[in-house]
Amino acid sequence: MPIRISVPKETTPGERRVALVPDVVKKLIPSGWEVLVEPGAGEAAGFPDADYVAAGARIEADPAKLWGSAAVILKIAIPSVEETARLPAGAIVVALMNASRNLDQVRALQARSVTAFALELIPRITRAQSMDVLSSQATVGGYKAMLIGADQVPKFLPMLTTAAGTIRPAKVLILGAGVAGLMAIATARRLGAVVEAYDVRRAAGEQVRSLGAKFLELAINAEGQGGYARELTPEEKVQEKVMVAKAVADADVIVTTAAIPGRRAPILVTREMVEGMRPGAVLVDLAAESGGNCELTRPGETVSVHGVTLVGPLNLPSQLAYHASQMFAKNLQSFLSLLITPEGALVTDAADEILAQSLLVSGGQVRHAPTRQLLEGGA
Ligand SMILES: NC(=O)c1ccc[n+]([C@@H]2O[C@H](COP(=O)([O-])OP(=O)(O)OC[C@H]3O[C@@H](n4cnc5c(N)ncnc54)[C@H](O)[C@@H]3O)[C@@H](O)[C@H]2O)c1
Repeated sequence: MPIRISVPKETTPGERRVALVPDVVKKLIPSGWEVLVEPGAGEAAGFPDADYVAAGARIEADPAKLWGSAAVILKIAIPSVEETARLPAGAIVVALMNASRNLDQVRALQARSVTAFALELIPRITRAQSMDVLSSQATVGGYKAMLIGADQVPKFLPMLTTAAGTIRPAKVLILGAGVAGLMAIATARRLGAVVEAYDVRRAAGEQVRSLGAKFLELAINAEGQGGYARELTPEEKVQEKVMVAKAVADADVIVTTAAIPGRRAPILVTREMVEGMRPGAVLVDLAAESGGNCELTRPGETVSVHGVTLVGPLNLPSQLAYHASQMFAKNLQSFLSLLITPEGALVTDAADEILAQSLLVSGGQVRHAPTRQLLEGGA
C-alpha cells in the first residue's frame, strides 16, 4: 500500500510557493508514496493542476479527504490552528515551523497528537545538505534582494564606456556573507558591480574573495556552533561599527543578511550611518523578518530617508516562487527518504539524527527544548 502524502494550498497571505512540484511527485511515486494535491496549490508558483496529474498525483478538492486521509502533510509554512484541527491523530506534518514565532500553532499541533518536523531544525551536517531548506530558500532570497537593489538604485551597476561618456561601476556592499550574502555577491558581480562584503566569521573571507569581491576584515572571528555566528562582545561591536560605517558611506547598494539563529538580527547600520549614505543609495534588508540589520528598516515596507531608499522585504523566496518551490520540493524529497523504510512502511521512531533534531512535536509533547521553554514561559 503506498503511503499517502497531501499537499495543501498555502494560506499565509502573500505566500506563492508550494511544497511539492510535479517533477518531484513523479520521483516520489515509484518510491512508495501516493500524492494528493489541493486544486490550485501550485498555480501561483507556475505549476498547474494538470502537471500534477500528469506526474501521477490526484487533485483532491474535498478538504476533509485531503487533510483527513493523509499519513504525511507537506507544507511550506506551519499549519494554522484551523488547519491543524483537520489533521488525523498520528499524522506527520513537515514544514518550516518557525516555532518561536508561532507558539499558538505549536500548541495546536501538540494538542492534536500529531508528529511535526520543523525543516529549519535540520542539523547542518553533510548528510543533510540536500534537505537544507534554509540554504535553498536563502539562495533565492539573496539573489532577489540584489535584484531589488539594482532595480531601485538610480545608477548602472556595470562600468560602461559609451559615446555619452564613461560610467563608473556601482559599489555594492554585502553585510553577512552566509548563503544569502554569497548569492547576493555572485549576482552583483554578474551585473558588473564592484563588491565588498563583511561577515563576523573569518571563514567567509575565502568564499567572498573566490567570488571576486573584497572581504572587509576585523581582527575578530565570531564563528560559533555549527558554522553559525555567535553574538559579538560590546568591544567587538565598537570595532565593527567603525569599519561598517566607512563602507556604508561609500556604497550605492547595500544588501544586509546578518542573522544569529533564534535571536533578533544584529543592528549593523544605525540611523547615523543612514544619514551618512550617498543620496540615491539603496539598502535592502534581508533580515527585516527578524527585526532588521538597519535601525530604520520597516519590515514589509520601502521607505525613503534623507534621499536613501530602505527596503524591508518579507518572504522574498515567495517572489521567485517557481524555483523556490522546486528547490523546497527537492529538499523534501530527500527528507522523505528518511521517513520510509526499505519495505515501504513509515518509520515509527525518530532514531535518525536528522529526524531526532528536527522533531518539534510528537506524542502530545513538544520535543524541541527551546520551544518548550518558550511555551512554559507563557510567551
Ligand atoms: N550543511 C552544512 O554544512 C551547511 C549548510 C548551510 C550553511 N552552512 C554554513 O553555515 C554558515 C551560516 O549560514 P547561513 O547563511 O544560514 O547563516 P545565517 O542566515 O544564520 O546568517 C547569515 C550570515 O550573517 C553573519 N552574521 C551574523 N552576525 C553578523 C554580524 N554582526 N556582522 C556580520 N555578519 C554577521 C553570519 O556569520 C552568516 O554568515 C555558513 O558558513 C554556511 O556555509 C553549512
